[in-house]
Amino acid sequence: MKVNRVKHIGIIGTGMIATSMAVLTTGHGYKTTMFAVNDDLAAASKKTFEDFYAQLVEKKLMTAGQSEICGKYLNYTQDYKGMADADIIFECVVEVLDVKHAVYSEIETNCPNVKAICSVSSALVADKLAEGMGKYKDRIIVTHPFNPPHMVPYFELAAGAETADGVVEFAKSVLEALDRKPVVLKKSAPGFIGNRLQFALWREALYIVENGIADPKDIDTCLMYSFCPRYTSIGMFDHFDNGGLDLNINVCKTLFPDLSDTKEVPKAITDRISRGDLGQKTGVGFYDWRNVDMDAYREKVSAPYWNFFNWELPTE
Ligand SMILES: NC(=O)c1ccc[n+]([C@@H]2O[C@H](COP(=O)([O-])OP(=O)(O)OC[C@H]3O[C@@H](n4cnc5c(N)ncnc54)[C@H](O)[C@@H]3O)[C@@H](O)[C@H]2O)c1
Repeated sequence: MKVNRVKHIGIIGTGMIATSMAVLTTGHGYKTTMFAVNDDLAAASKKTFEDFYAQLVEKKLMTAGQSEICGKYLNYTQDYKGMADADIIFECVVEVLDVKHAVYSEIETNCPNVKAICSVSSALVADKLAEGMGKYKDRIIVTHPFNPPHMVPYFELAAGAETADGVVEFAKSVLEALDRKPVVLKKSAPGFIGNRLQFALWREALYIVENGIADPKDIDTCLMYSFCPRYTSIGMFDHFDNGGLDLNINVCKTLFPDLSDTKEVPKAITDRISRGDLGQKTGVGFYDWRNVDMDAYREKVSAPYWNFFNWELPTE
């Protein structure tokens, strides 16, 4: 169901997140304009955009005709005036505060209609983003996605101290209309929710390796075949409530004192970095990647997310 108040969505940037966002918005029939720094970046983004759509067609989630209709909703501009009437803008530029501030200044000059300026920043909080702003400090929020946002439904939203009432709710309603699953944080925290949870688990996984309890492969087997599949249909609070908090308290008492609480980056990471073993990009990390079929790997990464594809595609 489209949000009627939204006639035009602006996206700043042409990178990974920006282009995936454009698939999401055009796939829901929203007129979308992407700001590109130059022709080459616009062309590269258009190619990625078309590849994403080709993949959706290949997966039989839409027809070639439907993907062609969606593509008509996308325009590129190199002038912020091209999104002068945008109702909402997703800022998807590099994670550099000065660059983001320069972008907001352009939006303030050229986009008077914008009701929410949504930064997809991974780490910068809305108050930091607002510091570089003039008249639209009350419209900036963080809408943090997971990559790629046209496939991963979850977004975490966080307002700043000066964000006006209704801005977060408006952005949330737009994301819901885009078939996303947005949650609103009560206050900002580094890592929001998703990465706090993921890195708490990662810290413990590294601790298990460093303390000789198990190898990476066995830890990954545990994740894939024990509790992770459950959490695609119920949540953790569901699960432990269902099990009974009286049972849970005993496990907490036994385990919490034994779990990692290190504040340092574990040696399991720093030692590999000092050897030049950065993971897949150098051929070796925790695993040996040199003979891995990366197309098959990417297919496995995407597989669970196709289930979330339930878009009402535009018909004209
Ligand atoms: N990649 C991820 O996994 C991920 C996940 C969640 C959030 N994010 C966040 O998304 C944002 C973009 O990340 P990405 O991975 O898409 O990066 P990217 O490098 O793929 O794209 C960055 C884009 O910024 C554009 N840009 C640079 N300077 C600009 C300027 N002055 N004006 C306009 N555009 C400019 C570049 O042209 C490029 O299109 C970052 O804030 C990042 O933290 C990334």
